[in-house]
Amino acid sequence: MRSRKCSAAAVLLAIFANSVVGTSLTAPKGAKVLTVGVIGDYGWTGWAPSPDNFCFEIMPQLEAAGITVPNEVINDCDPGDKQYITNATALQMDTSSYVGQVCALKNCSAFLSVGDNFYDSGVDFTTSGILRFQAAWVDMYSQGKFKKAPWYQCLGNHDIVPGQSGVDFQTKVAPLYDNRWYFGTQGLPYYTYDLEGQDWSATFVVVDSDCFLSSYQKNTSVYKNAYTTGCHENTQVQVDFLTDAFANSKATWKFLQLHHPYMSAATNETDLAPLISVVERHHGIVLNGHDHCLGHFVNNDTNFILSGAAGYPQAGDCNNGVPLGPYAKFLGANALTAANGFVTMDISSKEINVEYYARDMKFEGEDLYPVDCDLQPSYSFQITQKAT
Ligand SMILES: *[C@@H]1O[C@H](CO)[C@@H](O)[C@H](O)[C@H]1NC(C)=O
Ligand SMILES: *[C@@H]1O[C@H](CO)[C@@H](O)[C@H](O)[C@H]1NC(C)=O
Ligand SMILES: *[C@@H]1O[C@H](CO)[C@@H](O)[C@H](O)[C@H]1NC(C)=O
Ligand SMILES: *[C@@H]1O[C@H](CO)[C@@H](O)[C@H](O)[C@H]1NC(C)=O
Ligand SMILES: *[C@@H]1O[C@H](CO)[C@@H](O)[C@H](O)[C@H]1NC(C)=O
Repeated sequence: MRSRKCSAAAVLLAIFANSVVGTSLTAPKGAKVLTVGVIGDYGWTGWAPSPDNFCFEIMPQLEAAGITVPNEVINDCDPGDKQYITNATALQMDTSSYVGQVCALKNCSAFLSVGDNFYDSGVDFTTSGILRFQAAWVDMYSQGKFKKAPWYQCLGNHDIVPGQSGVDFQTKVAPLYDNRWYFGTQGLPYYTYDLEGQDWSATFVVVDSDCFLSSYQKNTSVYKNAYTTGCHENTQVQVDFLTDAFANSKATWKFLQLHHPYMSAATNETDLAPLISVVERHHGIVLNGHDHCLGHFVNNDTNFILSGAAGYPQAGDCNNGVPLGPYAKFLGANALTAANGFVTMDISSKEINVEYYARDMKFEGEDLYPVDCDLQPSYSFQITQKAT
């Protein structure tokens, strides 16, 4: 009797160790061509903004009385985001099934996130944080190709609003919660990983670009907190990390994966220049989000791939489809709206085939962004210049 109990417990423990605790999943190795999805700015589902009477009447009174209102609370009163939430939730859901369809056809093996994983104020280690994590990510991306694909994660500005506790949730708690959520091996907001094919390899460096923006250190910014102030004072740590990772890598391809855009149709975040010059020296490629649309920019021989359209698309972020100069090669937007969608990269030794998938946005009988055959890419280009 006793021994049977013990062995049952041992079996249970083994199952637990295999399925829950332990290391995150990683992409399969050895493929001739490996397809990955680049996805960003998606996590709206489950966000409940504060009520209007609090945001517009009570909050100003509290501020007038000298009571400090936490940044999360201020941010959850963002008037634009309060308006978008109903549509944004529906659009995230429709886009997740679209990404699933494209990825079933294309055999995506992993997803590379460019941040803004949870609107409006990220998630932290509270019951509401757990509920959001479950609804906006675990359950949202759970079918088909999503079932077993790792997501190489990255922090965006919405993710760091709760400060260190939010960063800890995404870097330390989430990988144990769901082994598809990958955040390096050190529990840090920056990390590096390699994808390895049959006759090629690719080094990726993920950084937290929130640390680089001086605008986030203004005392009126909802992004100013002990975490961002600390990492802003020492951005060199991340520049050195990138420099070393690229210098120590002999990979065929090298990528910087981060949230904010250095090249943009809305705001070029020039504070990122120290990171970009490392990328330029190695003939690397930049993956970013933040602007809620799809875009391709080339500056100084460097490709910037914008994939920020998996949640609430915003035409203004892609200047309503009007290029501001020859650096803008593709903008997934028109006068009225930007397209939902994501980017795939087919990585091989010969080239990286980059495809932009814009969703035909039929919504409540209208078509917000008509695309004839949205299982075909709306735009594509190939990178053949290898990393140095
Ligand atoms: C999909 O890609 C993976 C990783 O390269 C590979 O192992 C698998 O055979 C592919 N599946 C199909 C149906 O091509
Ligand atoms: C939400 O979607 C509906 C239906 O397309 C549209 O009429 C409305 O303007 C949208 N609201 C916002 C805030 O985008
Ligand atoms: C921000 O700093 C300025 C100047 O240092 C000060 O006058 C202002 O009261 C501060 N605002 C807040 C919200 O702390
Ligand atoms: C971003 O930089 C490019 C290249 O220097 C420039 O052409 C473009 O006007 C800039 N975009 C914005 C929004 O300022
Ligand atoms: C362009 O690249 C060159 C050489 O890599 C570098 O010296 C220069 O600073 C870069 N310019 C810009 C505007 O990024």
